[in-house]
Amino acid sequence: MDVRVVEAAPTGFSADVLIVPVTKADAPGGTAAAVDRELGGLLTDAMARGEFKAGAGNVISFPGAGSFAGRRICFVGVGEADKITADTLRRVGGKGARAVNTARLATAAIAPLSDSTPFGPLSAAAGAEALATGAVLGTYRFLEYKTEDDSRRPDTLQTVTILVPSGADLAAAEGGATYGATVARATNYAADLANHPSSVVTPTRLAEDARALAGRLNLTVTVLEKDEMIARNMGGMVGVGQGSVEPPKFIIIEYKGAEGAPVVMVGKSITFDTGGISIKPSAGMEEMKGDMGGGAAVLATMRAVAELGLPIHVVGILTAAENMPSGTAINPGDVLHMHNGMTVEVINTDAEGRLVLADGLSYGEKTYQPRLMLDIATLTGACVVALGNHAIGLLGTSDDGKQTAREVGEETGERVWELPLWDEYNDDLKSDIADIKNTGGRAGGTITAACFLKRFVGDVPWVHLDIASTAWVNKSTDYLPKGMRGTGVRLLTGMLRRLSQG
Ligand code: BES
Ligand code: MN
Ligand code: ZN
Repeated sequence: MDVRVVEAAPTGFSADVLIVPVTKADAPGGTAAAVDRELGGLLTDAMARGEFKAGAGNVISFPGAGSFAGRRICFVGVGEADKITADTLRRVGGKGARAVNTARLATAAIAPLSDSTPFGPLSAAAGAEALATGAVLGTYRFLEYKTEDDSRRPDTLQTVTILVPSGADLAAAEGGATYGATVARATNYAADLANHPSSVVTPTRLAEDARALAGRLNLTVTVLEKDEMIARNMGGMVGVGQGSVEPPKFIIIEYKGAEGAPVVMVGKSITFDTGGISIKPSAGMEEMKGDMGGGAAVLATMRAVAELGLPIHVVGILTAAENMPSGTAINPGDVLHMHNGMTVEVINTDAEGRLVLADGLSYGEKTYQPRLMLDIATLTGACVVALGNHAIGLLGTSDDGKQTAREVGEETGERVWELPLWDEYNDDLKSDIADIKNTGGRAGGTITAACFLKRFVGDVPWVHLDIASTAWVNKSTDYLPKGMRGTGVRLLTGMLRRLSQG
């Protein structure tokens, strides 16, 4: 699906569907009022009857009339005018685009709220970014394994054109729409990787995907194989990977859009998490194909950053392995020798994410001395318990980095919520026979997992994002799908965009 920006009045632009935002009021205003006059007041009637309340995400459609004859008009509510945010406009993009597919039509135009405030309180750049993001994310579907005609029938929507009135900043709107569509497509790519079964998206496949991206973008990829991991004392990577017939891969992707110390992002890439010998219960275990969601977010973010050409130096690391129980798997009680020289007693083989991340973080710290280290991981069930499905767990040692995550989280809707990382929690990780153990018990599981990781980042400023809570959700929203969501791509790319600006 293409996203464009055109300076034109809704009357003067032809598309199958005109999507018109409507603010909550007694009667339509702005563009909605002008369009409704051509319809002979159908919207006014629907609002007066209470059939359409213009709450954010409400939709009502009519066949066009007057100067809109031959087009469909899809009104989408935005709620009260003074409460419009980027999220409101993402919902307009998502709801509007979905309505076009439902009507089996091909082209859509999104009208401005009014000529004077086309995107409400948002700038042209932020408004167009939000609409484009909503439209691209809202029409995501994963059809690879559908064979029956009805469910695999491709969507019809081809082009979404964001209309801006004359006098608005067209160039800024174009920049915003390009950014939004690029990052949303990368998000959908990450969702695809998570949706594919673990028999398809193996560590090897992740390495191939990284190489394929490097083939068409300004990225360099290095993949460390198991023998190289052994040579580098990556006991976490080797230990977690040793139960599987799928070889682990340590995937390094570099984008050099600027000189200087890079931002390093490490993504947990467990292509399937059975729990290992500490095996998980069967119910819901299929979801653990998504346990590479952190790595998918890092890979997709590298893609977006390279496509956008952001002026920043970034290194992405995917710690890819499959966590399987077998005769060669690690056992509880085994001791691993980690990349940073520490020893870890494995109490629970299901706490595998922190073991692979530890080697990724330590490798990132020692190899690059980054200006900021980020990691992103479907790390703990405790994060789901603590935060539900509406917030990413935020921990770390960089106050600036955490503040950036909070601000970008608000902007993008990928909101974060901080949990403490106090030294007192470290006691839970004391081991009788090794330097530390890999689990701290049930209490404060998200925090003790982060305390574990902290031992591997050295003195580098660090931000940890636990996306176990949001990587997959069993309900869709106005612009996000049910299931795998490509969580973190918008947040990470937004953070890098900020960091590239100063
Ligand atoms: N991948 C899981 C965490 C997870 C759980 C992600 C639910 C998404 C939804 C992780 O590897 C894990 O198994 N963590 C254990 C840690 C425990 C053994 C200390 C957990 O959270 O139960
Ligand atoms: Mn696990
Ligand atoms: Zn896991």
